[in-house]
Amino acid sequence: MPDHPPPEITAALQRMGLLPPSTPSPASPLQGERLTGGVSSDIWRIDLPSGPICVKRALPKLKVAADWRAPVSRNLYEARWMQHAEAAVPGATPTLLGQDDPSGALAMAFMPPGAHPLWKAQLRDGQADPGFAAAVAQRLVRIHAATARDPAVPAAFPTDAIFYDIRLEPYLVATGRAHPDLAPRFQALVAATQAHKHALVHGDVSPKNILAGPSGPVFLDAECAWWGDPAFDLAFCLNHLLLKCLWTPAARDGFLACFDALAAAYRAGVDWEDPAALETRAAHLLPGLFLARVDGKSPVEYITTEPDKDRVRRTARALLLAAPDRLAAIRQAWSKELAA
Ligand SMILES: Nc1ncnc2c1ncn2[C@@H]1O[C@H](COP(=O)(O)OP(=O)(O)O)[C@@H](O)[C@H]1O
Ligand SMILES: [Mg+2]
Repeated sequence: MPDHPPPEITAALQRMGLLPPSTPSPASPLQGERLTGGVSSDIWRIDLPSGPICVKRALPKLKVAADWRAPVSRNLYEARWMQHAEAAVPGATPTLLGQDDPSGALAMAFMPPGAHPLWKAQLRDGQADPGFAAAVAQRLVRIHAATARDPAVPAAFPTDAIFYDIRLEPYLVATGRAHPDLAPRFQALVAATQAHKHALVHGDVSPKNILAGPSGPVFLDAECAWWGDPAFDLAFCLNHLLLKCLWTPAARDGFLACFDALAAAYRAGVDWEDPAALETRAAHLLPGLFLARVDGKSPVEYITTEPDKDRVRRTARALLLAAPDRLAAIRQAWSKELAA
C-alpha cells in the first residue's frame, strides 16, 4: 500500500544527496511502500521522480523470537559488501546508491519483484533448478576469489565481534547448549571458522536473500559481512538445500541435485587455497548448521513436526560425530535418512 516513509528515511536520503534539498515538501511528501519479508530492517521502495529506489535501514533489535540484537553499524558493512560484490561480479547485487552511517541506512537500486522472484519461493514451490544453483555458486565463489586477493578488504571489515554475535553464537554455540554432549564439537567448529580468514564472507547466503533475476542470482542482505572463512557461506547455503527436502518433499531429488551442482560449481572456482581444504571445512560446518536450524536460536519456520526434527537431529548428530571431509558424504547420509 502506498505510504509516506518515516522522517528518518527522508533525512537519510537527503544526507546521501539523493533528494534535491527542497524536496520533499509538506505539500508533496515522499511516496513509497514498506516492503515485507525482512527480519532485521525497515525496508522501503521510495518513488522518486527519476524512478523507484530501495532504502534499507537497520533496526537495533531483530524481529525474531529470541532476543537478538546487533549494532546498526552492520549497515555500513552491508554497503561495503555490496561494493565489493558489484566490482567482482557486476549485477550480483543491487547497485549501491548511497549509505548514511548515522542512521544505519543504505539506498540501492530497486529490483522489481515480477522480474526478480525470490529463490526461496521457487524452492517452496518445488522449482529446483540445478543450473540456477550452480549460478549461485559461480557468483559467490567469484566474489570470494576477488576479495581473497584484495589486500584492502580485511581492514574494511573489522566485524569479528558482530559475526560472532549474530552468526557463530546463535547458530553454533547455542546449538551446543541444546546438545551438551556435542558442545566441544561446536566450540571446535567456531574456533576453526575464526581461524581461517581467507575472503569476504556474506554471512547469510540463504534462498530468502537471493533473487532469481533475468541475468542470474542477485544477492541481498549482507548484514553479516565478515573478513573470514568462505566455507561458512558455502555450508550455509548448502544447508538450505538439505532443509528444503522436508518443506517440499516431492522435489527432494531436485534439491539434492541442486546441492551437488552448487557444491561442484563452487569447488571449481576456488583458486585462493586448496579446494579440498575448503571443502573439508564446509563439510565439517554443515552438520552443525543443519542441527542449528532445528535446535539453535533461529530455527526454520517450515520444519514443525517432531518426527521431521528428529530426522535432522539423527542425521546431523551422526555426521557431527563422524565428521566426514567430503560434502557428498553429507548429501548421501541425508538421502539415506529421507529414503528410510
Ligand atoms: N533492492 C531491492 N529491491 C527490491 N526488493 C528488495 C530489495 N532489497 C530488499 N528487498 C525486499 O526486502 C526483503 C528483505 O530484504 P533483506 O535485505 O533480506 O532484509 P532483512 O535483513 O530484513 O532480511 C527482500 O526479501 C526483498 O523482498
Ligand atoms: Mg533477509
